[in-house]
Amino acid sequence: MSVAKSDFKKVTTNSVQEMKQNGEKISMLTAYDYTLAKIIDSAGIDVILVGDSASNVMAGHETTLPITLDEMIYHASSVVRAVERALVVVDLPFGSYQGNSKTALNSSIKIMKESGAHAVKLEGGVEVLTSVKRILTAGIPVMGHLGLTPQSIYKFGTYTVRAKEEEEAEKLIADAKRLEEAGCFALVLEKIPAKLAGQVAKAISIPVIGIGAGGDVDGQVLVLHDMLGMTHEFHPRFLRRYLNLYEDINGAVQSYISDVKSADFPNEKEQY
Ligand code: KIV
Repeated sequence: MSVAKSDFKKVTTNSVQEMKQNGEKISMLTAYDYTLAKIIDSAGIDVILVGDSASNVMAGHETTLPITLDEMIYHASSVVRAVERALVVVDLPFGSYQGNSKTALNSSIKIMKESGAHAVKLEGGVEVLTSVKRILTAGIPVMGHLGLTPQSIYKFGTYTVRAKEEEEAEKLIADAKRLEEAGCFALVLEKIPAKLAGQVAKAISIPVIGIGAGGDVDGQVLVLHDMLGMTHEFHPRFLRRYLNLYEDINGAVQSYISDVKSADFPNEKEQY
């Protein structure tokens, strides 16, 4: 069932914060193109993330590192053209914000100007704090991202659960507080123990949206192509698949091929 136009209020950074205060869970999914963004927006999703996972899902790269700022803007513009209700957040890609707050600000302004999105997201804690603060000076809302941060894959070496040890867990809690104090409107926690994620969600007043971070947080995010079962070689424990589109699409294409080969398609009604 889609959401009737008269029934919806646009989702804003303020409304997701109100959702946390009211105990309403926040739903978030990725999208990278017009067609799927239109479907998930009309279904009533609260937040759409134009994730740098587009690097894997759309472009077939092994990591999120190669995607460029212009490529992110291309995906984000396509999504923004489709969306009427959801809050659209765009990932700052690798190399567009780390180590230089002026570059971070310029990248964020370019995303907001050229795509029409509503906010940016970046990975990291204290290391990126000056960038977060500088982006905020331009009035651009920032979402943080801690835990498994795929842009640092070559530092960590694996995609396994993060912050299982005391020291890393303490750093994560401290980073979450610093991001909140700096003015982030929300925080993504990826692949960390559920207990720790629940502790963070209690310790800070901004919404915490989890992926592989258990149920004691303020909302959930999944990669759309994973939850639709379009990617079929990825089976993390946290992923719930709602469809098996890989098999469905494969079957549909096989039927089409066989209909073309047998000259069953097109039939008389399917021609002029
Ligand atoms: O890029 C992405 O899809 C993300 C989500 C996994 C949170 O950052």
